[in-house]
Amino acid sequence: MLNIALPKGRLGEKVYALFAEAGYECPAVLSKSRKLIFENSEKGVRYFWVKPSDVAIYVERGAADLGVAGKDIIEEYQPNIYELLDLKMGKCRMCVAAKRGFREDPDRTLRAATKFKHIATRYYASRSKDIDIIELNGSIEIAPILGLSDVIVDIVETGTTLYENDLEPIEDIMPISARLVANNSAFRFKNAEVEQLTQQLADVIARKDATI
Ligand code: PRP
Repeated sequence: MLNIALPKGRLGEKVYALFAEAGYECPAVLSKSRKLIFENSEKGVRYFWVKPSDVAIYVERGAADLGVAGKDIIEEYQPNIYELLDLKMGKCRMCVAAKRGFREDPDRTLRAATKFKHIATRYYASRSKDIDIIELNGSIEIAPILGLSDVIVDIVETGTTLYENDLEPIEDIMPISARLVANNSAFRFKNAEVEQLTQQLADVIARKDATI
């Protein structure tokens, strides 16, 4: 039996559809109940819905053998897990953004508001730049508007949130997408099942790519 942590929400439903297409269906997953764990013993899978940012914790600690986590979470927390496959969904970018027309003052330390303090720290360290990180939990976009920070480091998908708040992306940090990840021991001790599922998902993704 493979225990699989799915990220709750819109992305999770698309991810589950991909698993189902790859032959690992478990229709109860889509039931509108409040249940969080679903099993299809015939297919050898048990799915559970968890908060997207918690998937890596379940996988790292072995409560899940496999999971689907955003590259943003993987880069931020750098959990000790295997990244097996890019699912090519949930695509977005990690960016630095600022108020339209922002000019940096070279005499002051740049203040960056973010939910991703490790990504931001590493990014600016790689450019040998000193910054003051202001950690927030959401609505990051209002920080530069209220003068709490000069820039933000955040996820941009369609760009609508930036646009509607008079901000613009000024630097690209990295592309983000959903990744299939595995617990280290599960990868070793359930290797045949893990490899088979990974291959079947990869085949579905390749078929989708071919039709675009
Ligand atoms: C993310 C991000 C932006 C928004 C960008 O927030 O923090 O606010 O999406 O999307 P857009 O470019 O399509 O407008 P999310 O919805 O994950 O919520 P949160 O920041 O409150 O966690």
